Amino acid sequence: MTINFKWLPPKLTAAFLICCISVSANSREIYKDPSQPVEKRVADLLNRMNLDEKILQLNQYTLGWNNNINNIGEEVKDIPAEIGSLIYFDSDPALRNRMQKKAVEESRLGIPIIFGYDVIHGFRTIYPISLAQACSWNPDLVKEACAVAAQEASMSGVDWTFSPMIDVARDPRWGRVAEGYGEDPYANSVFCVASVEGYQGENLADTTSIASCLKHFVGYGASEAGRDYVYTEISPLTLWNTYLPPYKAGVDAGAVTVMSAFNDISGVPASANPYTMKDILKDKWGFDGFIVSDWGAVNQLCNQGFAYDNKDATAKALNAGLDMDMMNHAYDRNLKELLEDGLIEMEVIDDAVGRILKVKFELGLFENPYTHLVEDRFLRSNSLETARRLASESMVLLKNDSLNVLPLKNYKRIAVIGPMGDDKKNLLGSWNAHGNPEDVVSWLEGLQNEFDSSHYEIKSEMGCDFDKEIEGAFDKAEDLAKWADVILVCLGEQNSWSGENASRSDIHLPTIQENLAQIVSSTGKPMVLVLSSGRPIALDNLEPLFNSIIATWQPGVEGGNALAGILSGRINPSGKLAMTFPRSTGQIPIYYNRRKPGRNNQGFYKDISSEPLYSFGHGLSYSEFEYSDLSLSADEIKKDDKVIATVTVRNNGNVPGKETVMWYISDPVSSITRPVKELKRFEKRNILPGETVLFKFEIDPVQDLAQVDSKGNTLLESGEYYIMTGDKSIKLRLTE
Ligand code: GLC
Repeated sequence: MTINFKWLPPKLTAAFLICCISVSANSREIYKDPSQPVEKRVADLLNRMNLDEKILQLNQYTLGWNNNINNIGEEVKDIPAEIGSLIYFDSDPALRNRMQKKAVEESRLGIPIIFGYDVIHGFRTIYPISLAQACSWNPDLVKEACAVAAQEASMSGVDWTFSPMIDVARDPRWGRVAEGYGEDPYANSVFCVASVEGYQGENLADTTSIASCLKHFVGYGASEAGRDYVYTEISPLTLWNTYLPPYKAGVDAGAVTVMSAFNDISGVPASANPYTMKDILKDKWGFDGFIVSDWGAVNQLCNQGFAYDNKDATAKALNAGLDMDMMNHAYDRNLKELLEDGLIEMEVIDDAVGRILKVKFELGLFENPYTHLVEDRFLRSNSLETARRLASESMVLLKNDSLNVLPLKNYKRIAVIGPMGDDKKNLLGSWNAHGNPEDVVSWLEGLQNEFDSSHYEIKSEMGCDFDKEIEGAFDKAEDLAKWADVILVCLGEQNSWSGENASRSDIHLPTIQENLAQIVSSTGKPMVLVLSSGRPIALDNLEPLFNSIIATWQPGVEGGNALAGILSGRINPSGKLAMTFPRSTGQIPIYYNRRKPGRNNQGFYKDISSEPLYSFGHGLSYSEFEYSDLSLSADEIKKDDKVIATVTVRNNGNVPGKETVMWYISDPVSSITRPVKELKRFEKRNILPGETVLFKFEIDPVQDLAQVDSKGNTLLESGEYYIMTGDKSIKLRLTE
């Protein structure tokens, strides 16, 4: 059995030659020696493996009861000891350890399995959905939450999470907007890095670190008409400027795996696309981890009309750079024959196996293949505190009119009306791993915790179900509304209405919920809409009925305490939208960083406003922040100079508040048209009443002013730029 050298990256080639000599000389098992460099261990082990062992390393099956409703695959009986990876559906490490023991002790070379799982926004301590986390504009807090998720997951037998999801998305009909960090490439990049660092920690081999996975590579968020698993029309320019930047940030942050997407990228499906997976990811960016397919994405190439059969799909996927096959049973069933037919080269198989082994060595799985049981690994007090902080910082106060109903004051009788009022399950959101509804603090429970029963009376009625009537419930709700001094109308989506395979043709809430709001609003009492959803919701019918509106998203286990803290005023809301709220479904796609139109005063809708209901970056506070003195350290610089922009922000309110200053650039005239503005930096800080704080943005023209052309080359043109923040803007001239 021979292995060709020409494919080996240089550092591996040398290591490989040394290994071949040493193996032949003394067959010392270098791969078992942790003092050896990883590349030598990989080379030594590769040299020892036979073809069957190599092929099985490229496959991932499932272990445990599969609770992923979108992917109920055939249960694999008698899993071979040489399998490369398993998706682990249990939260107790015992089953994992039994399977790992089989791999380590019954296989010829004792190669450990890497166990993966969808730890998207928490493992058992469930945090707000990722879209909500982005609205916190607090990457440090997101990193903290991911570190807890990693701790709970790793102590439960999981080595690898299929997260972060960093698909820029601008169509809220698509259910998976819930899983990413919104419509902006820079925001997705920053939260991607925070997640990768949180999951992988300082050292991947630490017992509380897990491997991250950048997904879904690439452009999945452009899914046509907001449906799932469909075509995406992506120009090279859009690919480079919108969808790729978060992945580049994740690779640079050290993410060790990537997951290929379902979508067809303008005619070449992502899971068989050599341009994206090899030319860009592996060659241009130097990514030396491995790529795993999404579930069934290889065989789906046949449905997409890109492959004749699973064998053809296998050849196209592996030759395009897809290293591991998730639950297709394509690689294990076809690779040997493809090799014999000359349709796959051995060097391609070796490269893929080498990448997978590298990650397993870096995770320390050869030295520590088993998970040691730690009973009190879930819902620790510090984990819940992180959940509470992240939930409260991710909620967005969308409206608080002149009646200033919020924070609630002097209202003795509080009515909690609506299907979300005492709901727990749906606050967990989609992809809630091992989250348990019993762990969740509901809206009603949070209010009861927060508002002293000696001063306040809190009563609740459902009024209706999420999408259907409940006999007599409207009348009870109306009676309660008449009793109340203030009404909290708690509406929203079930958690199954967003996430994978959960597109909606209309982003309004069900009519029954809107009718409930109408009925209780007829009492004329102060009205607060508490909205829970996995996506932006069209509120054009509801907005006029309410004095205040708060978007809580799906905030996880501590949602009720976070909301109640905001409603009482103990917490000053600081969330800002990471995704635009359209006025109606018909406006979609609508997002802030759009291209400039040919006419500024024509081309609008004839039936509704062309402006969104709430824009990207919108979010109110109980404080009032005033921006002033935007200035530049120079108003003209050369391309290789740097310049510092500063702005002062004053809190004119009477309570401390956190403000996120967002810095945008605008390049009004360029050889390739650009968006009206582009987010390039943000910073969130607490500002005391009366305090003025200086915010800085050090501008590096190449990083912050340039765009990328359709070939992936940086394009930085001299001319006028504008630096914008708050309601301010200042001109900067860039010269050669
Ligand atoms: C699903 C999802 C992907 C997930 C994988 C494993 O189909 O698209 O995000 O990580 O399968 O559950």
